[in-house]
Amino acid sequence: MIDIKDVSVQFETSDGKVDAVKDVTLSIKEGEVYGVIGYSGAGKSTLVRTINMLQVPTSGQVMVNGNDMTRLPEKELLRACKKIGMIFQHFNLMKQRTVAENIAFPLYKSGLSKSEINQRVNRLLELVDLTDRKNSYPAQLSGGQKQRVGIARALANDPKVLLCDEATSALDPNTTLQILDLLKKVNEELGITIVIITHEMPVIKSMCDRVAIMSDGKVVEQGTIFDIFTDPKDPITQSFIESASQKEKEIQDIADEVKEKYGSEKAHLIRIDYAGHHKGDRLVANLVKDYQLTLNILYADVEMIQGQPSGTLLLEVEGEAASIEAALKRLRTDPVTVKEY
Ligand SMILES: Nc1ncnc2c1ncn2[C@@H]1O[C@H](COP(=O)(O)OP(=O)(O)OP(=O)(O)O)[C@@H](O)[C@H]1O
Ligand SMILES: [Mg+2]
Repeated sequence: MIDIKDVSVQFETSDGKVDAVKDVTLSIKEGEVYGVIGYSGAGKSTLVRTINMLQVPTSGQVMVNGNDMTRLPEKELLRACKKIGMIFQHFNLMKQRTVAENIAFPLYKSGLSKSEINQRVNRLLELVDLTDRKNSYPAQLSGGQKQRVGIARALANDPKVLLCDEATSALDPNTTLQILDLLKKVNEELGITIVIITHEMPVIKSMCDRVAIMSDGKVVEQGTIFDIFTDPKDPITQSFIESASQKEKEIQDIADEVKEKYGSEKAHLIRIDYAGHHKGDRLVANLVKDYQLTLNILYADVEMIQGQPSGTLLLEVEGEAASIEAALKRLRTDPVTVKEY
């Protein structure tokens, strides 16, 4: 659906050249929700903007829906770009125009008659649940409503692809959920391929099928949400995921507290991370049963990622030193990650 091949973008600035995107290759499948994450300045927006040629690459090729976007003659490029909608963090609505006029705007030069445009606008208003705000101006809308208008406008030309650059970053958590639900509906019911840039990990986890992690203009890792979140390979991915979650800090704080209280010699802390259908509770039960250990669960967290559990346990273990050793040995043969604190 979208094939980005060896794409680089270089900007000339008064301070010299900036390599915003460096030799990126990735492909996004039809109907997929694809995430792009990374620290500020990593090149996410620049890369995604090459998909609809808002940013022309310095080198490389961008194929969308069978079209080589870097080579299309102007007229055809315009037509191809109409099939790629985009929404933005700050909505980019026209302040002097009503909701309906904003949504109709991309249709004015489409050759549709006035009544056809009206019909389509009404359908889009219904889709984003704003029929009753049709004649309002952007200033009279909440952030979530503005983004709904942005989405309706982006869908006006029946696009195959929707690009979302930090589309929920300016919204509160509740409104974010509503917008994500709408995007899910757009993906599932209209079959539109979605590319999402965000720094919000929950957005990626709940929405995306696959994700690419960018750093310094490059894609350092890409994969399914499950693989990336349960087994990140690249150190940048690891630190990005860790910094976005409170989990590591919470676990370290608990471990420090227990060690301080009981002395680091006495307190035996074991952390177990498991992913997929390895049952954390069974693991714990077996340790108790087979090694006569007393376990105190200090921290437990299980979340579902792409329908599969991913869990972390921090256990305080009491028992004979030899039993603890044997239990650890056994655990290390299981498909889990074991770490002693
Ligand atoms: N028009 C431009 N002219 C010059 N440099 C630019 C331009 N656009 C982006 N850059 C530079 O390219 C690099 C990548 O920028 P980009 O906006 O793609 O990053 P980003 O990952 O989207 O960051 P953020 O998370 O802050 O939005 C940065 O160093 C930025 O300063
Ligand atoms: Mg950006």
